[in-house]
Amino acid sequence: MSENTNIRHIISAADFSQSDLRDLFTLINSIKEAPHHFSSTLSNRVIATFFCEPSTRTRVSFESAIARLGGACISVADGATSSNAKGETLEDMIRTVGGYADAIVLRHPEDDSAERAACVASIPIICAGAGARHHPTQALLDLYTIVEARDRLSDLLIVVAGDLMHGRTARSLIELLAQYEGNRFTFVAPPQCTLHPDSKAVLDAHKMAYREVPTLEDALVDADVLYMTRLQKERFADKTAYERARGTYSLSSTNVDQLPQDAIIMHPLPRNEEIDSAIDADPRARYFTQAHNGLFVRMALLATLFETEANTMS
Ligand code: NCD
Repeated sequence: MSENTNIRHIISAADFSQSDLRDLFTLINSIKEAPHHFSSTLSNRVIATFFCEPSTRTRVSFESAIARLGGACISVADGATSSNAKGETLEDMIRTVGGYADAIVLRHPEDDSAERAACVASIPIICAGAGARHHPTQALLDLYTIVEARDRLSDLLIVVAGDLMHGRTARSLIELLAQYEGNRFTFVAPPQCTLHPDSKAVLDAHKMAYREVPTLEDALVDADVLYMTRLQKERFADKTAYERARGTYSLSSTNVDQLPQDAIIMHPLPRNEEIDSAIDADPRARYFTQAHNGLFVRMALLATLFETEANTMS
């Protein structure tokens, strides 16, 4: 979590240290075991969810988390129905909503939207997706899903496949996994959307070993975690480049046989054609568990944010 004056925000996965992550995972486990103990954590709190881009899992799991913590939720589920459509700036919208809520969960198409919102906000901003750049809460639920399934976060071989240029989930997850010793990465991406230079810089800064290979078949045999992502069609400036990239890295019921038996298959969802639905019944497929974990992770994040605030005020 990052701090701007005395307000805590959740903007970037990179703001979480290993010790923050350990505390968060302990809290998630407590919430999973006894959710009723947390049912009044947000009583008398109003949380705004403000989504200027499409979303199913992120928005609905946040709203469910708010409800299960006893809070109330006010929501803009579509930028087209807000004053965004009348040309209002992000800053003005954040200042305004700040008068109605105790925190804002924000999804916005611009890479620096969460930082900009935090600069003017009088209440915590929780980034729920900022352009092609940040998706911290997704990365946290991805990391939790990995540790839950593999019992460790270090010495893993992680294969990340798909749109590594425009995909904010892969970028954010790399920022977390690069903190743990002994991890190695294999990246598989169509030539139109290979690993983002910022991700390379993160990996180099942490001295992480990685390689880039052209096909999934070159990557699967020794993977511990396979993290698939869709092509971010909406972020391709050139739609013919998108068409050329389609279908170049699909996981099928044939090539999935190359994946070790104890590997896990993840995907932030929504999927397009990159995972054959026949694989859903494979015990290694964890993407729906991963989406379900999003609820507990977001409950834990909200609980941490407001618990800290209550402690500061007392
Ligand atoms: C992702 C996103 O919005 O970045 N979805 C999600 O939040 N689970 C991934 C995607 O849209 O491909």
